[in-house]
Amino acid sequence: MSMYDLIVKKKRGETLTKDEINEMIAGYVGGSVPDYQMSAMMMAICFQGMTEEETVNLTLAMAESGERLDLSAIKGIKVDKHSTGGVGDKTSLVLAPLVASVGVPVAKMSGRGLGHTGGTIDKLESFSGFRTSLSEEEFINNVNRIHIAVAGQTANLAPADKKLYALRDVTGTVDQMSLIASSIMSKKLASGADAIVLDVKTGDGAFMKSQEDSEALAREMLSIGQLAGRQMAAVISDMDQPLGYAVGNALEIKEAVDTLKGKGPKDLEELVLTLGALMTVMAGEAKDEDEARLLLKNNLYNGKAYDTFLTFIEAQGGDIRQAEDTSLLPEASITAEVPSEYSGYIADIATEEIGKISLLLGGGRETKESKIDLAVGVALKKKKGDAVRKGETLAVIHANHPEKVAAARKRLAAAYTISKEPAEKPKLIKKIMK
Ligand code: URA
Repeated sequence: MSMYDLIVKKKRGETLTKDEINEMIAGYVGGSVPDYQMSAMMMAICFQGMTEEETVNLTLAMAESGERLDLSAIKGIKVDKHSTGGVGDKTSLVLAPLVASVGVPVAKMSGRGLGHTGGTIDKLESFSGFRTSLSEEEFINNVNRIHIAVAGQTANLAPADKKLYALRDVTGTVDQMSLIASSIMSKKLASGADAIVLDVKTGDGAFMKSQEDSEALAREMLSIGQLAGRQMAAVISDMDQPLGYAVGNALEIKEAVDTLKGKGPKDLEELVLTLGALMTVMAGEAKDEDEARLLLKNNLYNGKAYDTFLTFIEAQGGDIRQAEDTSLLPEASITAEVPSEYSGYIADIATEEIGKISLLLGGGRETKESKIDLAVGVALKKKKGDAVRKGETLAVIHANHPEKVAAARKRLAAAYTISKEPAEKPKLIKKIMK
């Protein structure tokens, strides 16, 4: 069937066969299927969905679209972690070195920003000289030597996802369950880790807004991974407000550095300890999650997690003086406070909107070719449940373009809902699924 016929078939809500999916993915990677036809297909999938069988077939076609990483030369049980994407989600920056500091081999593949969410690879590039593109040999050597390597997706690892990810980012086709599941799991299957922990976000700032949809996405990814013989676990975590306080690439690096020194926001620390305990037990470095948590917490407060972070940044060419003195990281030329118009309690924060404001300031991509501004973003001063007085600062805008500040300020003020009644802080860890 031609790509045109496949688009029409999906538009009518029919099911694509394994052969049709294989043909479509091979055509896209090979260049015979152009971006505009694939965009139409992605949009048709957003409207019509995919069956479980189609999702598994799409995942396998994408995983097999390039080379697979052979990590057998790494000693021990290799673990990886992946988030479904959130606002202010700097979890991996803390989690990967922390878990490595207790001896777990962390072989991590990370992504760039997607839609209104940020990506670990963009954030790490805040360090001058930091290399996210590593040869297979260097990746393996680093994990064996210092227990940690974090790399971007190479051109030949799941190239179908690499192309589709960039296309979905700018065509409004990210927030579809089967597309997210196949994107994440194709990379994970191709990148060879033995154990995978998924951080599945739920809420306004996530791609899955309801807990029900987030659990369905987690179940789909767990079963794809288990079918492929991987140890799997998923944490459903709150994304009804940004994680921590910083949103924006270099701003998030600063907050991650604080957290690695035991001085970070408590929600970020709690999420890192929960995911880290699962990873540590899966890797066989602790007998249960309580023991793992204790090991991890010690290293967060005794300097070992931070030391591992410095070793990791240096091993990948980054300038560690920017971690030791975070004022050396990219900084915006303008900071502008957003005052509260009322006194009361923070009842709600429009989280996706916060991500979009960071994008508007230049922190994300508008088109595939956009270059991002690492310095810009938003630093929240108030989060859900906090009391606020009229005139007190809700958030601070970090910008490099003065003409963008007024719109950002207006949108940020509107993103906060302030009630007269005390408001509850949300529960961070909603569920653990295995
Ligand atoms: N992360 C990914 O790698 N892919 C998605 O589609 C969403 C989040």
